[in-house]
Amino acid sequence: MTDNTTQKLKAAASAVDLVESGMIVGLGHGSTAELAMRRLVQVMLGGRLERITGIPCSEHTANIARELDIPLTTLEEHPEIDVTIDGADEVDANLNLIKGGGGALLREKIVAQASKREVIIVDPSKMSEKLGEKWAVPIEVIPFGWSSQKRFLEGLGAKVTRREKDGQPFVTDSNNWILDANFGPIDDPAGLAAKLNERVGIVEHGLFVGVATDVIVGKSPYKVKHLKRD
Ligand code: A5P
Repeated sequence: MTDNTTQKLKAAASAVDLVESGMIVGLGHGSTAELAMRRLVQVMLGGRLERITGIPCSEHTANIARELDIPLTTLEEHPEIDVTIDGADEVDANLNLIKGGGGALLREKIVAQASKREVIIVDPSKMSEKLGEKWAVPIEVIPFGWSSQKRFLEGLGAKVTRREKDGQPFVTDSNNWILDANFGPIDDPAGLAAKLNERVGIVEHGLFVGVATDVIVGKSPYKVKHLKRD
């Protein structure tokens, strides 16, 4: 097992420690969030947790949860989520995030905003001084007029590529496309998010500003750093 995986495993286990019996749990998307789901099941089988119900952030996550026999529900049945455990692509010291590397940012943000606690689990490679140092910002756009969103993002200073899979546009769970907008280091994530929020045709973006309540960084198989929003 690589160091990176043991760090992710430790972060996942620490996040699952925050879950209590009877909770509605948001299930994130990506390899780290999957480790948390597997840990959740271990703990359920061990008897510490019972009556756990999940709300998945993607169809892919829903399929994994079904394989693992985690009972699922919807935001219509349970509009308030007790705790969500999700990964991230990049995290700054203010607990702001870039998400969407897996293409699930829209549902991830909907689930996050319905959550009392949004716990992000990462390995140390995800930490940055400024968001954008390592990752482009994924932008989910309506396919109609997508190239005008590309020009808009270029006007904001980004280098933009349309995400593809097998030579075709990558299609999200909500049938939209993703533009990866590389802004370089971002001085004002909230200001950039506000500009992106105003643009018609952009459905959602991967800047999660003020959304995470907790970030758990797996440092080693035995150690985490737990950052909390005040
Ligand atoms: C999914 O859309 C992303 O927001 C993921 O949370 C992110 O890509 C983290 O994935 P890993 O845990 O696989 O790095």
